[in-house]
Amino acid sequence: MQTDQPTQERPGPAFDPDRARRLAEAMKHLDGALMPILRALQEEYGYIDDAAVPVVADVLNLTRAEVHGVVTFYHDFRRSPAGRHVVRLCRAEACQATGGETLAARAEAALGIASGETTADGRVTLEAVYCLGLCAVAPSAMVDGRLVGRLDDAALDALIAGLGE
Ligand code: FES
Repeated sequence: MQTDQPTQERPGPAFDPDRARRLAEAMKHLDGALMPILRALQEEYGYIDDAAVPVVADVLNLTRAEVHGVVTFYHDFRRSPAGRHVVRLCRAEACQATGGETLAARAEAALGIASGETTADGRVTLEAVYCLGLCAVAPSAMVDGRLVGRLDDAALDALIAGLGE
C-alpha cells in the first residue's frame, strides 16, 4: 500500500550560523523554544549542524551540553545531511509485531549501512521512525516523504531497488 504525500527530503542550503541565529532569535520567545527552534533548523537545512549547537545555546542562555543532549536524544534530529533518498522504517510496537525488525535488518544488509547512516555514495539514508500512524497496515515506512504500508521482504527489496540515483 502506498499513499502520496509531498516529498520532505530536499537538500537544504549550506548551513549559515548568522541565519541560524536570526531564526533562533525570532523564535526564542516561544514556550519551550528549544524544540521549535531545532525543528525549524532541521526544516531549513535538512539536519542540525554541530555549529548550530553553540548558536542556539547562546540565544536561549542554555549550555551547549543541554542543547547537544536534546539534539542527540531525539531520533528525528539528523546530525548530518541526508542522502538523496531517505528510507524511514517504523520500529514502533505495531510494526515490530509484524516483522519490522527483520525488515530493518534486511534493509541494513541490502544497503550496507546501519540505521541512522547514509551510504558512502550519498544515495540513501536509512532511519528509524517511531510510528507513522499506519499501524493498521504495519509494517510501515516512509520513503522520500511517501508513506508505504504492508511491507514485506519483496516489497522492501523492490522499494530499495527502485530508489534511483
Ligand atoms: S507502529 Fe509503525 S506505523 Fe504505527
